[in-house]
Amino acid sequence: MAARIFITRKMEEQVVASLRKKFDVRMWDSESEKVPREVLLREVADADALWSVTADSIDREVLMAAPKLKIVSNMAVGHNNIDLEVAKERGIIVTNTPDVLTNTTADLAFGLLIATARRLMEAEDTLRKGQWTSWSPMGYTGMDIGGATLGIIGMGRIGEAVARRAKGFDMRVLYHNRSRKPEAEAAYGFEYAELDTLLKEVDFIVILAPLTPETLGMIGERELALMKKTAVLINVARGGIVDETALYHALKEGQIWAAGLDVFEKEPVPLDNPLLTLPNVTVLPHIGSATIKTRIGMMELSAQAILDILEGREPKNRVV
Ligand code: DGY
Repeated sequence: MAARIFITRKMEEQVVASLRKKFDVRMWDSESEKVPREVLLREVADADALWSVTADSIDREVLMAAPKLKIVSNMAVGHNNIDLEVAKERGIIVTNTPDVLTNTTADLAFGLLIATARRLMEAEDTLRKGQWTSWSPMGYTGMDIGGATLGIIGMGRIGEAVARRAKGFDMRVLYHNRSRKPEAEAAYGFEYAELDTLLKEVDFIVILAPLTPETLGMIGERELALMKKTAVLINVARGGIVDETALYHALKEGQIWAAGLDVFEKEPVPLDNPLLTLPNVTVLPHIGSATIKTRIGMMELSAQAILDILEGREPKNRVV
């Protein structure tokens, strides 16, 4: 009997076809609606491979309900939605989709930085509402990016790509990371800094660290209080890294100037989240890697990892 694959979202048929030729593929029939928990639990019960997305919680319950499962192929570079310990215990391989999304996500991070610093969404919103009364000397004024200092928290592949973009804007770049990056320091002049030093010195902060027990709540009340009153915080990594309640108060009380958020503690962000009431917050629905080419590339990597495992090869992007 052909091996069974369950895909938790409707993926592009041109990619899924490579799996259908050889295996028994079942796929949740919606692109935008999350697979219901009971369907996921039912489907994994006889699946050999699971293709998941970042919105799926692949926790102990799911992994324990899947006696035949050999691989969880997660269509994301992040893998905080998967219980890696249980996967390891059960001998289930977990893969992710790095590299193909590096530049795309860095572009979005930089775009969000510009949009937040220059209040683009707020300005567009007033125009559409008919509130653009006349050119105004101090209307819509924001913060300069050129020549400012950028701090990157999490200097992985995407962090480096954002930092390289910053060089094109004549920015000084400080970074904080688990390990130093001597090659990037030598090649581009990026400077390593301890977290508190970075928070005090920079004009813009871009968070690109993975969500782990160490980074959960890493930016809270104390850290926000260290930042400049004119600072702009951008988070394109994971919501849980920033304490949203502390961020709300810091923005409301003018402790920092603005924030641009592509990610939230809870996604989709509930509409009663107080952050959404603030004009100095620019928000996006987790679209860091959302270009056609990149999403197809991520699908191809996800499918290839499943093919590799089911055909007895070592997959390229193994997490555990
Ligand atoms: C990732 O790749 O981790 C993204 O956040 C999901 O699109």
